Amino acid sequence: MRAFSSLCLAVLASTFLTAAAQTPGTPKKSPSPHKLVAQTPPMGWNSWNFFAERVTDKDIRAAADQLVATGMRDAGYIYLNIDDTWEAERDASGVLHTNSKFPDMKALADYVHSKGLKIGIYSGPGPKTCGGYAGSLGHEEQDAKMYAEWGIDYLKYDLCSFIPEVMEKQAPNDKAEQMRLMVAAYVKMSKALKATGRPIVFSLCQYGWDAPWEWAPTLGGNLWRTTDDINATWDRIAVIGFSQAGLDRYAGPGHWNDPDMLEVGNGKLTMAENRSHFSLWAMLAAPLLAGNDLPNMTPEVKAILTNRDVIAIDQDRLGRQGTRGYAEGEVEVWIRHLAGGALAVAVINCADNDRFSTHPFHLNLARLGLHGTQKGKDLWTGKDVELSDNMPVELAKHDVLLVRIDAPK
Ligand code: GLA
Repeated sequence: MRAFSSLCLAVLASTFLTAAAQTPGTPKKSPSPHKLVAQTPPMGWNSWNFFAERVTDKDIRAAADQLVATGMRDAGYIYLNIDDTWEAERDASGVLHTNSKFPDMKALADYVHSKGLKIGIYSGPGPKTCGGYAGSLGHEEQDAKMYAEWGIDYLKYDLCSFIPEVMEKQAPNDKAEQMRLMVAAYVKMSKALKATGRPIVFSLCQYGWDAPWEWAPTLGGNLWRTTDDINATWDRIAVIGFSQAGLDRYAGPGHWNDPDMLEVGNGKLTMAENRSHFSLWAMLAAPLLAGNDLPNMTPEVKAILTNRDVIAIDQDRLGRQGTRGYAEGEVEVWIRHLAGGALAVAVINCADNDRFSTHPFHLNLARLGLHGTQKGKDLWTGKDVELSDNMPVELAKHDVLLVRIDAPK
């Protein structure tokens, strides 16, 4: 799928958009409300990682209640996103109906809004979604209008069947044409959403193929998946998280790399792994979309997800994504530049033994561009710390040291 250069795709995407937006002689319009969404990485909860296809209206209402009761809403988790499997069939006029799990989407949206939250939904440009439910192909404007009428605030748009059913059927063996079709499909929904006049976050899900970071922002994407699906194992989280190095220059207010939703609290992840996962996603300015079992969340998981200092790293107003400072043995050292000249440093022990195999690990501040002892705050203990050059750092298996330095030298 790499045949068509991403620069070409970016040009293509903006050509589609400007052709539609510019009518000679008309005055400039005021900025689109879409420009105002996702000024920091979206935060919320999505149904897929815990419920997958089992999610119901009742679960979404319970999640809304829990986001409020646990303090997660007040910590910033605003979007309550329904993933795949809410769809039934279209009627004779093409209107897509909800299935029996979601008897009244407008009433559900009203309920979610009444809790001070926003609501998201899921579809895709193909005839079917990844779960085999009805997609939006040929009904983009109609669906976008319906979402706006329901009061939807966020759309995740998942490529899936568009690949075999449109790209491969219409342009067999022509990768460039396949890519053109894919970009056109995302442009189509982007324009349909804009035409509703409702600010709706547009989340592109096409698994990071063909450098979406280079073309997705030009077509109005607020976030784009950079990888295939996450799962609740340390190995998958580490592979995804650490492969984000180098993507930092593509992210910024209104447009974010999306290394997929959080697995904090899911599967058999240890608390150290949950902490490292959350820290790394914060360093990456990643969307923080929790995906855990909210009614049964343990106090330890809640403490991780609502750690305000770590959330503040993720939501930093400068919007500069962090990147790898250096890696040594099985130790990853990441840095992120923050507003006001501050800096966040994360040291993660990826070794599968109980201790660093590179033990003892000594932090090299010069490799991070820092000189001499740095005063900071350990964001997981809440204590003041000093980072000095060559200091030994002791971390248990898959654990993290995350430090904020307000005045780095
Ligand atoms: C794809 C996406 C997942 C989820 C499922 C739903 O796999 O990448 O995040 O939305 O589809 O079917």
